[in-house]
Amino acid sequence: MKRKTLSRYLIEQQREHNNIPADLRLLIEVVARACKHISHAVSRGVLGDILGNAGTDNIQGEAQKKLDILSNEILLEANEWGGHLAGMASEEMEHMYEIPNRFPKGEYLLVYDPLDGSSNIDINVTVGTIFSVLKKPEQTSGAVTEADFLQKGTEQVAAGYAIYGPQTLLVLTTGFGTHCFTLDAELGSWVLTQEHMRIPSSTAEYSINASNQRHWAPPMQTYFSELLAGEAGPRKKNYNMRWVASMVADVHRILTRGGVFLYPADARTPDRAGKLRLMYEANPMAMLVEQAGGSATNGNIRILDILPETLHQRVAVFMGSNEEVDRVTRYHQHS
Ligand code: AHG
Ligand code: MN
Ligand code: MN
Repeated sequence: MKRKTLSRYLIEQQREHNNIPADLRLLIEVVARACKHISHAVSRGVLGDILGNAGTDNIQGEAQKKLDILSNEILLEANEWGGHLAGMASEEMEHMYEIPNRFPKGEYLLVYDPLDGSSNIDINVTVGTIFSVLKKPEQTSGAVTEADFLQKGTEQVAAGYAIYGPQTLLVLTTGFGTHCFTLDAELGSWVLTQEHMRIPSSTAEYSINASNQRHWAPPMQTYFSELLAGEAGPRKKNYNMRWVASMVADVHRILTRGGVFLYPADARTPDRAGKLRLMYEANPMAMLVEQAGGSATNGNIRILDILPETLHQRVAVFMGSNEEVDRVTRYHQHS
Protein backbone atom coordinates (compact mmCIF):
# COMPACT_ATOMS: atom_id res chain seq x y z
CA MET A 1 0.00 0.00 0.00
CA LYS A 2 1.28 3.45 -0.89
CA ARG A 3 1.27 5.63 2.21
CA LYS A 4 1.20 9.41 2.51
CA THR A 5 4.06 11.44 3.96
CA LEU A 6 3.53 14.29 6.42
CA SER A 7 4.40 16.86 3.69
CA ARG A 8 1.80 15.48 1.32
CA TYR A 9 -0.78 15.28 4.09
CA LEU A 10 -0.22 18.95 4.99
CA ILE A 11 -0.40 20.12 1.37
CA GLU A 12 -3.61 18.16 0.76
CA GLN A 13 -5.17 19.52 3.97
CA GLN A 14 -4.45 23.03 2.76
CA ARG A 15 -6.13 22.26 -0.58
CA GLU A 16 -9.15 20.79 1.15
CA HIS A 17 -9.62 23.11 4.15
CA ASN A 18 -7.44 26.14 3.41
CA ASN A 19 -6.11 25.91 6.97
CA ILE A 20 -2.39 25.26 6.54
CA PRO A 21 -0.70 28.14 4.71
CA ALA A 22 2.92 27.62 3.64
CA ASP A 23 4.49 29.16 6.75
CA LEU A 24 2.38 26.96 9.07
CA ARG A 25 3.35 23.94 7.01
CA LEU A 26 7.01 24.93 7.35
CA LEU A 27 6.55 25.31 11.10
CA ILE A 28 4.99 21.86 11.51
CA GLU A 29 7.64 20.26 9.29
CA VAL A 30 10.45 21.96 11.21
CA VAL A 31 9.01 20.80 14.56
CA ALA A 32 8.63 17.29 13.14
CA ARG A 33 12.25 17.38 11.94
CA ALA A 34 13.45 18.55 15.37
CA CYS A 35 11.52 15.65 16.92
CA LYS A 36 13.41 13.24 14.64
CA HIS A 37 16.59 14.70 16.03
CA ILE A 38 15.36 14.30 19.63
CA SER A 39 14.22 10.75 18.87
CA HIS A 40 17.72 9.94 17.63
CA ALA A 41 19.30 11.42 20.77
CA VAL A 42 16.87 9.47 23.00
CA SER A 43 17.71 6.22 21.22
CA ARG A 44 21.47 6.73 21.73
CA GLY A 45 21.17 6.85 25.54
CA VAL A 46 24.51 6.37 27.26
CA LEU A 47 26.25 6.26 23.87
CA GLY A 48 25.10 9.81 23.21
CA ASP A 49 25.89 10.95 26.77
CA ILE A 50 22.32 12.20 27.19
CA LEU A 51 21.30 10.42 30.40
CA GLY A 52 21.37 11.87 33.91
CA ASN A 53 20.91 15.27 35.50
CA ALA A 54 22.26 18.50 34.08
CA GLY A 55 22.85 19.93 37.55
CA THR A 56 20.39 22.83 37.11
CA ASP A 57 16.75 23.49 38.06
CA ASN A 58 14.06 24.86 35.76
CA ILE A 59 11.54 27.61 36.63
CA GLN A 60 9.24 24.97 38.16
CA GLY A 61 12.01 24.07 40.63
CA GLU A 62 12.46 20.66 38.98
CA ALA A 63 15.94 19.22 38.38
CA GLN A 64 16.69 19.46 34.67
CA LYS A 65 17.92 16.35 32.91
CA LYS A 66 20.54 16.61 30.20
CA LEU A 67 17.89 15.52 27.72
CA ASP A 68 15.45 18.27 28.84
CA ILE A 69 18.06 20.87 27.97
CA LEU A 70 19.24 19.22 24.79
CA SER A 71 15.66 18.81 23.48
CA ASN A 72 14.89 22.43 24.30
CA GLU A 73 17.93 23.57 22.34
CA ILE A 74 17.17 21.32 19.38
CA LEU A 75 13.69 22.88 19.10
CA LEU A 76 14.99 26.44 19.51
CA GLU A 77 17.74 26.06 16.93
CA ALA A 78 15.51 24.31 14.42
CA ASN A 79 12.79 26.94 14.65
CA GLU A 80 14.49 30.30 15.10
CA TRP A 81 15.81 30.95 11.60
CA GLY A 82 12.98 29.89 9.26
CA GLY A 83 11.00 33.14 9.40
CA HIS A 84 7.77 31.42 10.45
CA LEU A 85 7.78 32.37 14.14
CA ALA A 86 7.30 35.51 16.20
CA GLY A 87 8.41 33.80 19.41
CA MET A 88 8.67 30.59 21.39
CA ALA A 89 8.05 29.52 24.97
CA SER A 90 9.03 26.29 26.69
CA GLU A 91 8.79 24.43 29.97
CA GLU A 92 12.56 24.74 30.27
CA MET A 93 12.77 28.55 29.88
CA GLU A 94 11.45 31.00 32.44
CA HIS A 95 10.61 33.64 29.84
CA MET A 96 9.55 33.60 26.21
CA TYR A 97 12.24 33.34 23.57
CA GLU A 98 12.40 36.21 21.14
CA ILE A 99 13.47 35.40 17.60
CA PRO A 100 16.94 36.99 17.26
CA ASN A 101 16.98 40.13 15.12
CA ARG A 102 19.27 38.60 12.55
CA PHE A 103 16.38 36.38 11.44
CA PRO A 104 13.08 37.31 9.77
CA LYS A 105 9.98 37.07 11.97
CA GLY A 106 6.67 35.38 11.24
CA GLU A 107 3.11 35.25 12.51
CA TYR A 108 3.15 32.16 14.71
CA LEU A 109 3.96 31.38 18.33
CA LEU A 110 5.30 27.97 19.31
CA VAL A 111 4.89 26.69 22.88
CA TYR A 112 6.35 23.35 23.91
CA ASP A 113 7.32 20.77 26.49
CA PRO A 114 10.59 19.65 24.90
CA LEU A 115 10.81 16.41 26.84
CA ASP A 116 7.75 15.07 28.58
CA GLY A 117 8.19 12.27 31.09
CA SER A 118 11.67 13.27 32.27
CA SER A 119 11.57 10.82 35.18
CA ASN A 120 11.46 8.00 32.61
CA ILE A 121 14.53 9.01 30.58
CA ASP A 122 17.08 7.13 32.62
CA ILE A 123 15.03 3.93 32.85
CA ASN A 124 14.40 3.46 29.12
CA VAL A 125 10.65 4.11 29.28
CA THR A 126 8.65 6.11 26.72
CA VAL A 127 9.04 9.90 26.67
CA GLY A 128 7.90 12.55 24.19
CA THR A 129 7.68 16.17 23.02
CA ILE A 130 4.41 18.16 23.23
CA PHE A 131 3.74 21.32 21.20
CA SER A 132 1.08 23.94 20.65
CA VAL A 133 0.90 26.54 17.86
CA LEU A 134 -0.84 29.91 18.28
CA LYS A 135 -1.04 32.98 16.06
CA LYS A 136 0.48 36.24 17.14
CA PRO A 137 -2.49 38.50 18.05
CA GLU A 138 -3.46 40.76 15.14
CA GLN A 139 -3.08 43.95 17.16
CA THR A 140 0.56 43.14 17.97
CA SER A 141 2.85 44.81 15.52
CA GLY A 142 6.57 44.61 16.20
CA ALA A 143 8.06 42.46 18.94
CA VAL A 144 5.86 40.01 20.83
CA THR A 145 5.61 39.96 24.61
CA GLU A 146 4.61 37.19 26.99
CA ALA A 147 1.08 38.61 27.10
CA ASP A 148 0.72 37.67 23.42
CA PHE A 149 1.10 33.99 24.35
CA LEU A 150 -1.69 34.06 26.94
CA GLN A 151 -4.46 32.87 24.65
CA LYS A 152 -7.15 30.28 25.25
CA GLY A 153 -6.52 26.76 23.93
CA THR A 154 -9.39 27.28 21.49
CA GLU A 155 -7.06 29.64 19.61
CA GLN A 156 -4.52 26.88 18.83
CA VAL A 157 -4.07 26.42 15.08
CA ALA A 158 -2.17 23.17 15.52
CA ALA A 159 -1.17 20.89 18.36
CA GLY A 160 0.65 17.62 18.63
CA TYR A 161 3.20 15.41 20.25
CA ALA A 162 6.02 13.13 19.23
CA ILE A 163 6.33 9.94 21.25
CA TYR A 164 9.63 8.12 21.55
CA GLY A 165 8.63 4.54 22.31
CA PRO A 166 9.09 1.21 20.56
CA GLN A 167 8.22 3.28 17.47
CA THR A 168 8.61 7.03 17.09
CA LEU A 169 5.21 8.54 16.27
CA LEU A 170 3.89 12.02 15.61
CA VAL A 171 0.27 12.70 16.55
CA LEU A 172 -1.07 15.90 15.06
CA THR A 173 -4.18 18.00 14.72
CA THR A 174 -4.75 21.14 12.71
CA GLY A 175 -8.43 21.23 13.62
CA PHE A 176 -9.71 18.48 11.31
CA GLY A 177 -9.25 15.31 13.34
CA THR A 178 -6.29 13.76 15.12
CA HIS A 179 -3.89 11.80 12.95
CA CYS A 180 -0.88 9.62 13.60
CA PHE A 181 2.36 9.42 11.60
CA THR A 182 5.09 6.82 12.09
CA LEU A 183 8.74 7.73 11.61
CA ASP A 184 10.38 5.65 8.92
CA ALA A 185 13.87 6.13 10.31
CA GLU A 186 15.59 4.65 7.26
CA LEU A 187 13.92 7.06 4.86
CA GLY A 188 13.77 9.88 7.40
CA SER A 189 10.07 10.48 6.64
CA TRP A 190 6.95 10.70 8.72
CA VAL A 191 4.33 8.41 7.21
CA LEU A 192 0.59 8.71 7.84
CA THR A 193 -0.36 5.46 9.56
CA GLN A 194 -3.65 6.26 11.31
CA GLU A 195 -6.22 8.80 10.23
CA HIS A 196 -8.94 10.09 12.52
CA MET A 197 -8.03 8.50 15.83
CA ARG A 198 -11.22 8.04 17.92
CA ILE A 199 -11.67 7.80 21.66
CA PRO A 200 -14.69 5.63 22.52
CA SER A 201 -17.07 7.49 24.82
CA SER A 202 -17.11 4.79 27.46
CA THR A 203 -14.15 2.95 28.95
CA ALA A 204 -13.08 0.65 31.76
CA GLU A 205 -9.51 1.94 32.09
CA TYR A 206 -8.23 4.90 34.08
CA SER A 207 -4.85 6.54 34.47
CA ILE A 208 -3.94 8.28 37.71
CA ASN A 209 -1.08 8.54 40.21
CA ALA A 210 -3.05 7.06 43.11
CA SER A 211 -0.20 7.60 45.58
CA ASN A 212 -1.53 11.17 45.94
CA GLN A 213 -5.02 10.02 46.89
CA ARG A 214 -5.09 11.30 50.47
CA HIS A 215 -4.45 14.84 49.16
CA TRP A 216 -7.40 14.98 46.76
CA ALA A 217 -10.62 16.96 47.32
CA PRO A 218 -13.88 15.18 48.29
CA PRO A 219 -15.43 15.01 44.77
CA MET A 220 -12.30 13.27 43.51
CA GLN A 221 -12.44 10.85 46.47
CA THR A 222 -16.03 9.96 45.61
CA TYR A 223 -15.31 9.45 41.93
CA PHE A 224 -12.21 7.34 42.62
CA SER A 225 -13.83 5.17 45.28
CA GLU A 226 -16.58 4.33 42.76
CA LEU A 227 -13.96 3.21 40.23
CA LEU A 228 -12.27 1.06 42.87
CA ALA A 229 -15.57 -0.52 43.93
CA GLY A 230 -15.81 -2.17 40.51
CA GLU A 231 -18.72 -4.44 39.62
CA ALA A 232 -20.17 -4.34 43.13
CA GLY A 233 -20.21 -0.52 43.21
CA PRO A 234 -22.41 2.11 41.53
CA ARG A 235 -20.41 1.92 38.25
CA LYS A 236 -21.24 -1.80 37.95
CA LYS A 237 -18.04 -2.67 36.11
CA ASN A 238 -14.47 -3.55 36.93
CA TYR A 239 -11.84 -1.02 35.92
CA ASN A 240 -8.22 -1.53 34.94
CA MET A 241 -5.48 0.98 35.77
CA ARG A 242 -2.41 2.17 33.84
CA TRP A 243 0.09 4.94 34.77
CA VAL A 244 3.26 5.40 32.74
CA ALA A 245 4.08 8.81 34.29
CA SER A 246 4.77 10.27 30.85
CA MET A 247 1.66 12.19 29.84
CA VAL A 248 2.43 11.54 26.16
CA ALA A 249 2.39 7.78 26.75
CA ASP A 250 -0.75 7.81 28.88
CA VAL A 251 -2.64 10.07 26.46
CA HIS A 252 -1.39 8.09 23.47
CA ARG A 253 -2.87 4.93 24.97
CA ILE A 254 -6.16 6.76 25.47
CA LEU A 255 -6.16 8.02 21.86
CA THR A 256 -5.50 4.46 20.75
CA ARG A 257 -7.88 2.39 22.88
CA GLY A 258 -9.79 4.81 25.09
CA GLY A 259 -9.56 5.54 28.81
CA VAL A 260 -9.46 8.52 31.12
CA PHE A 261 -6.41 10.47 32.29
CA LEU A 262 -6.72 12.24 35.65
CA TYR A 263 -4.29 14.60 37.34
CA PRO A 264 -6.35 16.33 40.07
CA ALA A 265 -5.41 19.24 42.30
CA ASP A 266 -3.51 18.38 45.46
CA ALA A 267 -4.09 19.87 48.93
CA ARG A 268 -0.33 20.08 49.58
CA THR A 269 0.01 22.80 46.96
CA PRO A 270 -3.12 24.98 47.34
CA ASP A 271 -1.43 27.82 45.44
CA ARG A 272 -1.47 25.83 42.22
CA ALA A 273 -4.38 24.16 40.50
CA GLY A 274 -2.64 20.88 39.62
CA LYS A 275 0.70 19.52 38.47
CA LEU A 276 0.45 19.76 34.71
CA ARG A 277 1.08 22.94 32.79
CA LEU A 278 -1.79 24.52 30.88
CA MET A 279 -0.03 26.01 27.89
CA TYR A 280 2.30 23.22 26.78
CA GLU A 281 0.78 20.07 28.29
CA ALA A 282 -2.95 20.40 28.95
CA ASN A 283 -3.93 22.63 26.00
CA PRO A 284 -2.28 20.72 23.15
CA MET A 285 -3.42 17.39 24.62
CA ALA A 286 -6.96 18.72 25.12
CA MET A 287 -7.16 19.77 21.47
CA LEU A 288 -5.91 16.35 20.30
CA VAL A 289 -8.37 14.57 22.61
CA GLU A 290 -11.35 16.72 21.56
CA GLN A 291 -10.47 16.28 17.89
CA ALA A 292 -10.59 12.53 18.53
CA GLY A 293 -14.10 12.78 20.00
CA GLY A 294 -13.12 12.87 23.69
CA SER A 295 -13.35 15.68 26.25
CA ALA A 296 -11.01 17.57 28.55
CA THR A 297 -11.83 19.69 31.60
CA ASN A 298 -10.19 21.02 34.74
CA GLY A 299 -13.09 19.62 36.78
CA ASN A 300 -15.09 22.77 36.22
CA ILE A 301 -14.75 24.03 32.65
CA ARG A 302 -13.33 22.89 29.33
CA ILE A 303 -9.51 23.13 29.42
CA LEU A 304 -9.54 24.91 26.05
CA ASP A 305 -11.73 27.71 27.48
CA ILE A 306 -9.30 28.68 30.26
CA LEU A 307 -7.67 32.06 29.72
CA PRO A 308 -4.04 31.63 30.84
CA GLU A 309 -2.61 34.18 33.26
CA THR A 310 1.02 33.08 33.09
CA LEU A 311 3.18 30.98 30.76
CA HIS A 312 3.84 28.23 33.30
CA GLN A 313 0.39 28.13 34.89
CA ARG A 314 -0.72 24.75 36.21
CA VAL A 315 -4.10 23.15 35.88
CA ALA A 316 -6.03 20.09 37.06
CA VAL A 317 -6.58 17.73 34.12
CA PHE A 318 -9.37 15.26 33.36
CA MET A 319 -9.31 14.05 29.78
CA GLY A 320 -10.33 11.16 27.57
CA SER A 321 -13.53 9.15 27.21
CA ASN A 322 -16.59 11.42 27.47
CA GLU A 323 -18.57 9.40 30.00
CA GLU A 324 -15.78 9.48 32.58
CA VAL A 325 -14.78 13.11 32.01
CA ASP A 326 -18.44 14.20 32.20
CA ARG A 327 -18.95 12.31 35.44
CA VAL A 328 -15.81 13.47 37.26
CA THR A 329 -16.54 17.04 36.12
CA ARG A 330 -20.13 16.82 37.38
CA TYR A 331 -18.93 15.63 40.80
CA HIS A 332 -16.61 18.64 41.04
CA GLN A 333 -19.21 21.13 39.80
CA HIS A 334 -21.85 19.90 42.27
CA SER A 335 -19.58 19.80 45.30
P1 AHG B 1 7.71 16.63 32.60
O1 AHG B 1 8.61 15.42 32.51
O2 AHG B 1 7.62 17.39 31.30
O3 AHG B 1 8.01 17.53 33.78
O4 AHG B 1 6.21 16.13 32.78
C1 AHG B 1 5.91 15.11 33.70
C2 AHG B 1 4.45 15.07 33.94
C3 AHG B 1 3.65 14.21 32.99
O5 AHG B 1 4.29 13.76 31.86
C4 AHG B 1 3.22 13.01 33.81
O6 AHG B 1 1.92 12.65 33.49
C5 AHG B 1 3.34 13.48 35.23
O7 AHG B 1 4.24 14.54 35.23
C6 AHG B 1 3.82 12.41 36.14
O8 AHG B 1 3.63 12.83 37.44
P2 AHG B 1 4.00 11.93 38.71
O9 AHG B 1 5.50 11.96 38.80
O10 AHG B 1 3.31 12.65 39.81
O11 AHG B 1 3.49 10.55 38.48
MN1 MN C 1 5.65 17.27 30.65
MN1 MN D 1 9.17 18.34 30.19
